[in-house]
Amino acid sequence: MKGAIFFSSKYGSTAQYADWIAEATGLPVYDIKKGNADPTKYDFLILGSPIIYYKLTIHKWVKKNLNKLGNKPIIFYSVSGAPAGEKLNGWIADSLPKEFISRMYHVVLRGRQIPAELSWYDRILLKIGAMANKDPQARKEELEGFDYMDRSGIEPIVELVWKFQLSEVLT
Ligand SMILES: Cc1cc2nc3c(=O)[nH]c(=O)nc-3n(C[C@H](O)[C@H](O)[C@H](O)COP(=O)(O)O)c2cc1C
Repeated sequence: MKGAIFFSSKYGSTAQYADWIAEATGLPVYDIKKGNADPTKYDFLILGSPIIYYKLTIHKWVKKNLNKLGNKPIIFYSVSGAPAGEKLNGWIADSLPKEFISRMYHVVLRGRQIPAELSWYDRILLKIGAMANKDPQARKEELEGFDYMDRSGIEPIVELVWKFQLSEVLT
């Protein structure tokens, strides 16, 4: 089974996870912004996207390519400040078609936000968001940033890739 990694990333952490997955699996990796990515060439896909302002940044690409994705197995990793939970599930439900969510394997990864690296616009909007945020931990992270990058987070993805590849050898 041939697979590939497709990702979108604004500040580099989703790209970093894509590179780690590529190193661990040997799969090719494509940045969807570069436009050279053709999902029809692969049997299964790993898709990665950050949550930016309560939405997955890959949502338009998924909708546009839905018919090309067919019934291929999809491993989806989200990268966010928020941990796994209802809040994150709600943003994902707002970003992707229901039937797509129900058939994808979802792995939750947490990213990085370094205030000094952000655009002026994002810094201001995050400050405004923090003022309205009732969750003290999330408010602190919106203002001061965070770094949850952890290479071991990709392990469930690597295991799924092995399973797909093994199932092909056994059938
Ligand atoms: C402008 C901006 C908005 C963000 N909005 C959210 C959000 O709504 N929910 C969340 O959990 N994390 C949010 N984050 C945190 C990002 O998901 C996190 O920094 C992630 O690692 C970014 O991925 P990237 O480096 O690949 O762009 C936001 C970060 C930025 C910079």
